[in-house]
Amino acid sequence: MAFCGLVALETLKPALTFPACAPTPHETEGPFYPVAFPLDKNNDLTFLEGTSKQAEGETIYVTGRVQDEACRPVPGAMVEIWQACSTGKYNHPRDKNPARLDPNFQYWGKAVSDANGEYGFKTVKPGSYPVDGLWTRPPHIHFYVRSKNYSELTTQMYFAGEALNDKDRLLGDHPEAEREKFIVGFHRIKEKRIGLFNLTLKKS
Ligand SMILES: [Fe+2]
Repeated sequence: MAFCGLVALETLKPALTFPACAPTPHETEGPFYPVAFPLDKNNDLTFLEGTSKQAEGETIYVTGRVQDEACRPVPGAMVEIWQACSTGKYNHPRDKNPARLDPNFQYWGKAVSDANGEYGFKTVKPGSYPVDGLWTRPPHIHFYVRSKNYSELTTQMYFAGEALNDKDRLLGDHPEAEREKFIVGFHRIKEKRIGLFNLTLKKS
């Protein structure tokens, strides 16, 4: 996998504040799962093949382990992510946000967990976006994870320290302890901004 060599996951483990192998709670898929996929079907969302420009915004690395409730790695799991670009706009016909699309951002990506269950993405921090006049969604990344013999997981990952987290209606549906499982602290390691988001699947 492209990012396994960058940082040993051990480095980030002290940042965990929740039971490591409790199932990752579900969250809604939302309205913006892609209706058309980019030509690049990989785990680097910051660069489109055939172009010369990088996506706008702060580059981040999201990595973690797909695991079961006994903390055993789940290799071969398909991990998909989709998200808004740095302006808070999705590449989706239903997104009415007037914010500008970034033509150099990939918006969706996929990775397969390796023999240790590890996956990784290079992307940009998404912008927040308005849902209605009273609700602005905090920056987040959507995840869809599937693997043979496990229940599918659809969830979202949030960024620690965002004031909008406290007002978000979706996050607010979860008890305080559960919310911590979605909210990831990012740490700068060797010039890279990296967050650890483990994904714990239930047996089907
Ligand atoms: Fe979203």
